[in-house]
Amino acid sequence: MPLTDLIPAPRSVAPGRGPDFVLGPESRLDAGPGTEDTACWLRSTLSPATGLPLLPPGAEQSGEAGTVRLRICETTGARLGPEGYVLDVTDDGVRITGGGPAGVFWGAQTLRQLLGPAAYRRANSAAGSAGWRVPAARIEDAPRFSWRGYMLDVARHFTPKDGVLRTVDLLAAHKLNVLHLHLTDDQGWRIEIRHRPRLTETGGTRARSLIGHRGRQGAPPLWDERAHGGRYTQDDLREIVAYAAARHVTVVPEIDVPGHSRAAIAAHPELGNTDVVDTASMEVWTEWGVSRDVLAPSETVLRFYEAVLEEVLEIFPSRFVHLGGDECPKDQWRASAAAQARIRELGLTGEDALQSWFIGHFDRWLAARGRRLIGWDEILEGGLAEGAAVSSWRGYAGGIAAARAGHDVVMCPEQQVYLDHRQDAGPEEPVPVGYVRTLRDVYRFEPVPQELAGTDRERHVLGAQANMWTECTENQQRVDYQTFPRLVAFAEVVWSALPAPHRRDFGDFEQRMTRAHYARLDAMGVDYRPPHGPHPWQRRPGVRGRPAGGAPPRV
Ligand code: ACM
Repeated sequence: MPLTDLIPAPRSVAPGRGPDFVLGPESRLDAGPGTEDTACWLRSTLSPATGLPLLPPGAEQSGEAGTVRLRICETTGARLGPEGYVLDVTDDGVRITGGGPAGVFWGAQTLRQLLGPAAYRRANSAAGSAGWRVPAARIEDAPRFSWRGYMLDVARHFTPKDGVLRTVDLLAAHKLNVLHLHLTDDQGWRIEIRHRPRLTETGGTRARSLIGHRGRQGAPPLWDERAHGGRYTQDDLREIVAYAAARHVTVVPEIDVPGHSRAAIAAHPELGNTDVVDTASMEVWTEWGVSRDVLAPSETVLRFYEAVLEEVLEIFPSRFVHLGGDECPKDQWRASAAAQARIRELGLTGEDALQSWFIGHFDRWLAARGRRLIGWDEILEGGLAEGAAVSSWRGYAGGIAAARAGHDVVMCPEQQVYLDHRQDAGPEEPVPVGYVRTLRDVYRFEPVPQELAGTDRERHVLGAQANMWTECTENQQRVDYQTFPRLVAFAEVVWSALPAPHRRDFGDFEQRMTRAHYARLDAMGVDYRPPHGPHPWQRRPGVRGRPAGGAPPRV
């Protein structure tokens, strides 16, 4: 693949003078100290795709062999950071020098991309038979942000474990490094908690699901009358974490409190506001939107969730643990004598302060265990817990306020990077959710708002995250459609040093996509939205679609 087609675009590319490097049957793979994971990944990926063995160093060699060398170098680390790398390609070999193990891995991903779309297949196909060539070059590269995230909501519609592992591979292929798993919500609890099995036994299944986003406008609600469920065992999650770690992706778990907790209350009625609602007859929620059934601000609830989090921390080594904190209606707390007594006892000013106290409790609890709390920007209301970080989803304002107050921020404004939102205004979009956010819009997303740019608070923007909520995406094909190709544009936004949004060359991005990256997504088996509009099977039922503007290129 031409050097100029890489996505995300590297920081600098200098074409070499010599001939291409050709990966052949006698090519070797030489892993320096600390690069063993990447060597293992490279061999397990490229050998099936190319049919080439990638021999260990020292094996018999003859003819025009070349070596792929993986090294970690402190000087590179000092210059480009731990995720930075230098990729040198000459006719007799490839040298990937990383600032740290992650840099080596991202360099190896660049090498794979340069080998062309067929390098993404799982078996050697005819498409690669022209030879596995890499143009001579020196590439120097490093990410703009340290948090390059994707959130997958596995609570509303469950993604089986294999699908999560596939998601990790797709993130890593785009140099994204955080997978935020939204594990619990009103409609389902997905993580096995050993000492509280009812959370998944009862909370992991809902009887049916509402058809449509928030019901059908003006029409009586319709349900699909099919149970939906699924759960990950702790061993599944440990496998996901280890698989992701080997690809330099951190899995950040989310346990949403004190709102979005109806599945937990259905499993354990004592968690709800029992003096105002009959929680004993509560079922896992079958509607979408924001449930009014929230956790009680009681000692019982605090102890329950501490015990849950003890198990969560054992599984997930990530520094950040997401505790949600979004969309917690206060009606039940207002009506509950117990909640009101709690407010008085704690000397709080009201229900917002009660939520802040609740989150603050877990912020301190996590900090005492060497972790940091991150939550949706509602955790700013009533005072932000010290040390907490914010996922700014209702726009930039929460992130700006949090950064100004000295808190770290991940920008994920729904107006820009909510991938459940439709990507075209046309009637064919499968479910017309939310804002229209096209591929171009996502390419023009800027994580650092003007209010922070160039100030000493800019450093608090750790990065950005694209969020995939799954109320309306009931399977992998639907999630793929919403996610791709927009996540490819997002990956370039968070990795590359792009100019200001209005000066970004979207035409060039589109051309790179057309020349190489739709074919790469095809090779990876991704059911993306084609540039000319959805395929017939992707369209909204009953909508025939516009005349096709030509099929996307295929490998
Ligand atoms: C959210 O979209 N409720 C974080």
